[in-house]
Amino acid sequence: MSLDRVDGRVKVRGTATYSAEYAFDNLAHAVLITSTITKGYISNIDSKAAVAAPGVLAVISHLNSPGVPGYGEPRQPAERASTGTAFRVFYDNLIYFNGQPVAMVVAETWEQASHAASLVKIAYEVEAHRTNFEENMQQAAIAQGVQKNKNSPFQDYIRGNPDVITDAKVKIEATYTIPNQHHQPMEPHAIIAVWEGADKLTVYDKNQGVKSAQGNLAQAFKLPRENVKVNAKFIGGAFGSGIRVWPHTVAAVLAAKKLNRPVKLVLGRELMFTSVGYRPYTVQKIALSADESGLLSAITHEGTGQTSAYEEHLERTILASRSMYACPNVSTKYKLLSLDVNTPTWMRGPGDATGMFALESALDELAYALKMDPLEIRLRNYAESDPERNLPWSAKGLRECYEFGAEKFGWKNYPLEPRSMQKDNMLIGYGMASSLYGFHRHPSKAKAIMLANGLVIVQSATMDIGPGTGTAMTRIAAKVLGISPKKIRFDLGDSSLPEAPGQNGSSTIPSVGSAVHVACEALKKKLTELAAAMPDSASKDIAYTDILKYHNLPQLEVTEESKSGQERDQYSMYSFGCHFVEVHVNPVTGEVRVKRVVTCADVGKIINYKSARSQSIGGVVGGIGMALMEASVMDHRYGRYITTDLASYHIPVHTDTPQIDVIYIDKPDMLVNPIGSKGLGEIAIVGVAAAVANAVFHATGKRVRELPITVEKLI
Ligand code: MOS
Repeated sequence: MSLDRVDGRVKVRGTATYSAEYAFDNLAHAVLITSTITKGYISNIDSKAAVAAPGVLAVISHLNSPGVPGYGEPRQPAERASTGTAFRVFYDNLIYFNGQPVAMVVAETWEQASHAASLVKIAYEVEAHRTNFEENMQQAAIAQGVQKNKNSPFQDYIRGNPDVITDAKVKIEATYTIPNQHHQPMEPHAIIAVWEGADKLTVYDKNQGVKSAQGNLAQAFKLPRENVKVNAKFIGGAFGSGIRVWPHTVAAVLAAKKLNRPVKLVLGRELMFTSVGYRPYTVQKIALSADESGLLSAITHEGTGQTSAYEEHLERTILASRSMYACPNVSTKYKLLSLDVNTPTWMRGPGDATGMFALESALDELAYALKMDPLEIRLRNYAESDPERNLPWSAKGLRECYEFGAEKFGWKNYPLEPRSMQKDNMLIGYGMASSLYGFHRHPSKAKAIMLANGLVIVQSATMDIGPGTGTAMTRIAAKVLGISPKKIRFDLGDSSLPEAPGQNGSSTIPSVGSAVHVACEALKKKLTELAAAMPDSASKDIAYTDILKYHNLPQLEVTEESKSGQERDQYSMYSFGCHFVEVHVNPVTGEVRVKRVVTCADVGKIINYKSARSQSIGGVVGGIGMALMEASVMDHRYGRYITTDLASYHIPVHTDTPQIDVIYIDKPDMLVNPIGSKGLGEIAIVGVAAAVANAVFHATGKRVRELPITVEKLI
């Protein structure tokens, strides 16, 4: 039994209101002007023609910005930000990356603003830039933030004696590369900013965390937190692009302040490439050794990721290699390369999707070197407890995932030899890979209100970027209270609601789901106590509405918080999974078609199968994109992306998406939280690219270690 999406009808009928769609009298429209150089500074801005153009209300830049109090005074003379300073919009004349916002035109209509933006003339002094990762890789270094923090997980790591790899009989060593990839949500980022006087700000902003955006904007504009309201009720996808408050949001807030009018700013697809982060270019060198039975003796994993010149973006790239398999000797190293680009950010399965592409491809290579079934080598090296932390897993149903997945897929008695399966002139390949993702749970509050008519309103400042948060929370509340989901309304996406984390790190159901559970339990307890005070209470079932009526209560309300305790130090908590993939490759054209995927996950209890399944399918589709299509390509002569739309940046469409079977172990992990449920969003994509690449190897005998696997790499 699954619930349909509680907001499905409003979404498909177009009556759900997204950030750009709120109506205001007097709404002004903003268009950003972005840098056409990559490094240097602005020497002049000529906005005379733009200011005189029809409908124009203002041209805003560092020359006349009302300023962001939290930025501090602009340095004089302009001096480059040191590492660790978030980009400051309209702050000074320095250019850090191509596509950097440098000015903004605000007009009565979007068309007028767009036209006027074309009239603004910006003169630059150009300095030499570095954007090419491969050319500059030797300058990568351990992040400054890691050097300063002895406890950083990104410090060099050594377990046992990884040097045994030198003398190992069976070993492989390879380098794996993933390019920049950009989040491509259906809804581009957008904001409407509204000031009420000088000290009250409301924004309708596409983001993944209304509370964090509220805190961030309050800090930037030096306002009491409660004076900032952030609304983000409906989000058309994000995948990590909405975790931070980005410069364009602040730019719109500045414009609204300057004009004392509501201002709307929508990023076109092109600006999505330079405004809201991306998955960083990453090169990984992995070496694995094993004995003849396939038992791993050593793993060494070095990762180098791209970052900007002003911030260090770290992600989990090399971390999975420490805990995924029972290997006694492991070393990891992690470095960053600063380039003249905007700062990368988290993108679905950040770090793990990248790292597990390398680890799970390398393990496949090792299996083939040993002439061993790729599933068998994973079972041989199954970690029964966490080898990194030396702790028991809270729960790990990965063995069952392998078993059920293999069964469903038909993973047995097939020829292991590459190029040995052919049909209708196509090369057929099978591939598989494992998946893991750490457990994240943050303190969360939920309020549950029962009205006199029996309707229950549950509220939390959580988000729904697509997975169907409201549906899952409704299911949890209905189950605890024992009432129909139709009698429950779940409110989210509003910073005035009870404290909750943003929707990231697959933490929503584990965190907020637990809060909803305990809040509804507390409400039920209160109702039970009130019922006990009623005549005949022991002899009959009393309706909730009668309880409120008898006690003359217009409503009954509780707010509860839920958070982790000591169990976090006693157990190692992860979601686990695996994917099985069949590809068909045209040997003449090199075209790869993913024909079948079986994806399996152990994420504890599944709250609502239908929406969970959609999330798993979405993750697999993202993984197919990562494996076969997605790459943001830059022309390094200019430091500028040449993929700036969905015609040049390819993502899978329906015809690229095969039958996907989803299997869950669905056993509650009661050590992690009161609902026994772990995160699903990220694990759905982690490992998929490796499974596809492994299947391509099995089909063709070609090991492609540089994503995406496009035709020219196969012919
Ligand atoms: Mo996810 S990358 O934490 O939105």
